[in-house]
Formats: sequence, C-alpha cells, structure tokens
Amino acid sequence: MIIVGGISSTSSREGMGPALRFNVDIFIPEFKQLADVVHGYGTPIIAELVPSLGRMSRPPGDGRIISASPLNVVVPESSLPHGIRMPGGFATRTPDEATIGEIQQYEREMIESAARVQRAGWDGVEVAAHMSYFAASFLSPRTNWRTDEYGGSRENRARILTNTVNGIRAITRPEFVVGLRILSNDYMPDGQGAGEFAAIAKLVEEAGADYVAMAPGCYETMNLSATSEDGYAVDCGDARVFKSALSKPLFLQALHDPLRAAQAIADGHGDVVMLARPLLADPEYANKACQGRFNEIVRCDRQNHCLRRLMLNMPMRCSVNPQMGREHRKSGSLPPLRRIVQAPIEAALLGLTGSKTMMDLVALATRK
Ligand SMILES: Cc1cc2nc3c(=O)[nH]c(=O)nc-3n(C[C@H](O)[C@H](O)[C@H](O)COP(=O)(O)O)c2cc1C
Ligand code: SF4
Repeated sequence: MIIVGGISSTSSREGMGPALRFNVDIFIPEFKQLADVVHGYGTPIIAELVPSLGRMSRPPGDGRIISASPLNVVVPESSLPHGIRMPGGFATRTPDEATIGEIQQYEREMIESAARVQRAGWDGVEVAAHMSYFAASFLSPRTNWRTDEYGGSRENRARILTNTVNGIRAITRPEFVVGLRILSNDYMPDGQGAGEFAAIAKLVEEAGADYVAMAPGCYETMNLSATSEDGYAVDCGDARVFKSALSKPLFLQALHDPLRAAQAIADGHGDVVMLARPLLADPEYANKACQGRFNEIVRCDRQNHCLRRLMLNMPMRCSVNPQMGREHRKSGSLPPLRRIVQAPIEAALLGLTGSKTMMDLVALATRK
C-alpha cells in the first residue's frame, strides 16, 4: 500500500513548495491516472490529507497562521535531526487562535477532499494529526488552551478528528479506508505522554478509523520523528502503549532493518511497518525484503540529505540513490535548463548549511 504524504486538503495557504492538492476538482483526472498506474501493480493508494501545517505554515507576507492556541514552535539546535545544522535552532511565527468557524471550515473541506479522493479512484485517506501541524495542535493541553468545545476534555481535544472521520465515513463507501496519522508522544517536559495520545487515537478509532499510524515526536523534538535510531518507535515504548489501547491495526515507522521490522511485528508491537527514507534509498526495498535478498537492499544512510533539501524547499534527492527524483528523465538526456542553472546554487547552499563551521560563522556574522 502506498500512502502519498502531505496532500493539501483545505484552502489554507502554507507557503511551502509545490504540494498535491485535493481541495479542488481540477486535478482529479490526473490523480485518477496515477491511481490506475499504481493499481496496475496490485497496490492500493491512500492520500494523507493535511488540513494545514498550522504553526509550521509560512504563508507569503504576513498572511494569517492559525493553530489551536497562539503558541509558536521553538526547535532547539539539540533537537534537529542528524545532519541538519542551524546554529541556535529555529522558531516559527506565533499563530493566531483559530476561530470555531475556521476549524469547522477545515473539517468540511477535509471531508470534501476525501470525497474527491474517492472520485479519483484512490482507496482511502489518512487524516494527518502529527508533528506540530494544525490538527496535532488540538491534542495536548500543552498546545491547546481553548475553553470552547475544541479544548479541555479529551473528547473536546479529539473533536476535530472525530468530526472529520465521522464526516468522511458518512459520505464514502464502506470499503473506502480511513486512517489516522497521530503524534504518539511529544516528548516535551510539559507535554503529554503516549497514554493520553493513544486514548485520543482510540476515540478516533471509535469514530470509524480503520488504522492508526503512530508518529513519535513533534517539531520541537523532530530528531525523534526522523530518528537515526533503528526501531526507536518500538524501543521508546510508545508502540506498546498504542497497541494495548487500540483494536484496529497499528502502523509503525523508522524500522529500516527488514529483520528487525519483522521481529517487531512478531513481538506484537504493531501490525504494519511503514517505509519513508528506505524507499527513497531503494524503491525495490519491499520486493528484495519479500524475496529474502536482504544484502541487496541499498540502505538509507540516515544522514538526512533528503530532509535538508525539503527544509530548504529544494526538489527531493537522495544521496545513495541518484535516480530518485529523476525517474522521468531518459538515460543520457540533459536536465532541463532550469535545473542546469539551479543545481550549482543548491549545491552551494547545501554545502554551506551542511558545514558546522560555516553555519557557526554565519550565526556569528548575523548576531545582533
Ligand atoms: C523527505 C521526507 C519527506 C517526508 N514527508 C512526509 C509527509 O509528507 N507526511 C508524513 O506523514 N511524513 C513525512 N515524512 C516523515 C516520514 O513519514 C517518517 O515518519 C520519518 O521519515 C521516519 O520514518 P523512516 O525512518 O521510514 O524515514 C517525511 C520524511 C522525509 C525524510
Ligand atoms: S538522502 Fe537518502 S540515504 Fe540520506 S537519509 Fe535521505 S533517504 Fe536516507
């Protein structure tokens, strides 16, 4: 099963690079073509619907950013994933508190987007409530200070998710899959642990979710979401807490060693292992693993070159798979002129941002 990540599904303006959009009709014919190709391989395709990046949005100019409550994201340098260098870390702009009208508009737009996903012939959607994105900001009292029906009790903090899942269930076919991707633990000193996040996931399961994909760590602890430790989601104990709270299948992440992944399932930590970076490094990973060709798998180096490019709004590339992001290019053909101009600029920027010494010098030069 392929989960297509980060799809814009409301009218929110994020200020990020090109994203797939299901909040409008015009792309449905192309999404249908994509589904037909994927189905040709006997593989289901699911759309991860993101209502908004919330506190992580960077809209043009001073465009409005909304979140459950007016709390910005502060990422200390020590919490950056391996390979990402930003002296002093970074902080986002403080968002405005979303009005009830805005929350309900996002719920409606998410439900309408799910209907388009179904019309495009895809097999389901995954409602995204992870990292520090809009829906995730409602889940914990640390980020949700509201006193209305979207804040306070567990039921209220889960409301945006239960309303959305209920709404999607009501208008889609019974076999249409509705998943949930949820923050499993924020790992913040004033945060909430896996038990309470799992209890919220349970409410969403009762509202009709077919599976739960757990994601440890928010942006403030982003070294744990793109972790360099194989099997972190299992070792940290979150998987065990989620598994005992839920009845529906639990999806795990960040298990790169296929044997370790199989052991995690055999030991009852979860039911499915998702692959993100391992598939960028080797798109044949799953076939090779199924055929026992473990030594032939090109392993992800966990140096996060891909993530660095994403954070700098550059086209995706992988340091161990030169074909990644260039699959459409015929062998021997020249890159388009635009890429010939952009590539050296990107290389210089990556060189600068990849060097601790250079970044320390930049920090020193720009210090007021
Ligand atoms: C380049 C890149 C892009 C990502 N985009 C998304 C996304 O759109 N949606 C999402 O839920 N997670 C996204 N992630 C996070 C992954 O889904 C996953 O949680 C994380 O990389 C850890 O799993 P892995 O070790 O299998 O990569 C992204 C990760 C990387 C490296
Ligand atoms: S660039 Fe490739 S090898 Fe490096 S972390 Fe990303 S997926 Fe793994």
